[in-house]
Amino acid sequence: MPLLDVSDVTLTFKGIAALVSVCFQVEEGQIVSLIGPNGAGKTSMLNCISGRYHPEAGSITLGGSELLTVPTHRRTSMGLSRTFQNIALFRGLSVLDNLMVGRHAQLKYGLLSSILYFGAARRAEDAHRRRVEEIIDFLNLSPYRHQPAGLLPYGLQKRVELGRALAAEPRLLLLDEPMAGMNLEETEDMARFVLDINEEWGLTVLLVEHDMGVVMNISHQVVVLDFGQVLAQGAPEAVQADPKVLAAYLGSEDATFLGR
Ligand SMILES: Nc1ncnc2c1ncn2[C@@H]1O[C@H](COP(=O)(O)OP(=O)(O)O)[C@@H](O)[C@H]1O
Ligand SMILES: [Mg+2]
Repeated sequence: MPLLDVSDVTLTFKGIAALVSVCFQVEEGQIVSLIGPNGAGKTSMLNCISGRYHPEAGSITLGGSELLTVPTHRRTSMGLSRTFQNIALFRGLSVLDNLMVGRHAQLKYGLLSSILYFGAARRAEDAHRRRVEEIIDFLNLSPYRHQPAGLLPYGLQKRVELGRALAAEPRLLLLDEPMAGMNLEETEDMARFVLDINEEWGLTVLLVEHDMGVVMNISHQVVVLDFGQVLAQGAPEAVQADPKVLAAYLGSEDATFLGR
């Protein structure tokens, strides 16, 4: 059974189809990339999985459980966590606190129980804090842990956002263009972190990314969307050589990477 199973998902905006009977699977332990020209429906697909958009038809299961009937806020506790195409951090909060907020999805002890069972809540809070510190170390964010996230350079903010998504301890991590707007060095760092998360922690990743070099290098599987439909899917080499894919990218600046 795949970890994520997207089946016949259809989404329209005022009669215009953004997704048309989209089907694909993400196997546990893999990095799967969702690619396609601008406006192909990639972000919409992530939004359907995370619960921001509600498709008219279809099914999306995570570990065999239907997601579409689950309210958005409960999908995090089912094991989903994501980053956004545009940075969505708490700019005034420190790096550490941003990750603690991400961790909150996991917190077992709310305010009331903190008052009633102070000791247990305190121990839980300490454990959460230790885990968050581990993630900060892993992402080489230690020198910035007490700095306001909003004051960091762009590439580091993207990394903090990744950290916050990781802090929720997801089963499936959704990344929407984590390398967008980055220079070469920042892009290589981010690609390395995504690979390490997958290889060292075994985390399953669904990645939307337009940097074809990165996609072809780190993905186990690639799904190509075009005008809301799945145009091709398979191993990177197969997708890269698919004439349908090349045709869809014709004239796009991303196409140059496909031939390499
Ligand atoms: N909230 C929305 N309201 C109306 N149309 C939308 C909305 N979100 C996406 N769309 C439309 O859906 C299509 C797919 O968009 P999107 O998923 O953002 O593509 P991508 O991420 O692949 O660039 C586009 O035609 C876009 O205009
Ligand atoms: Mg998008």
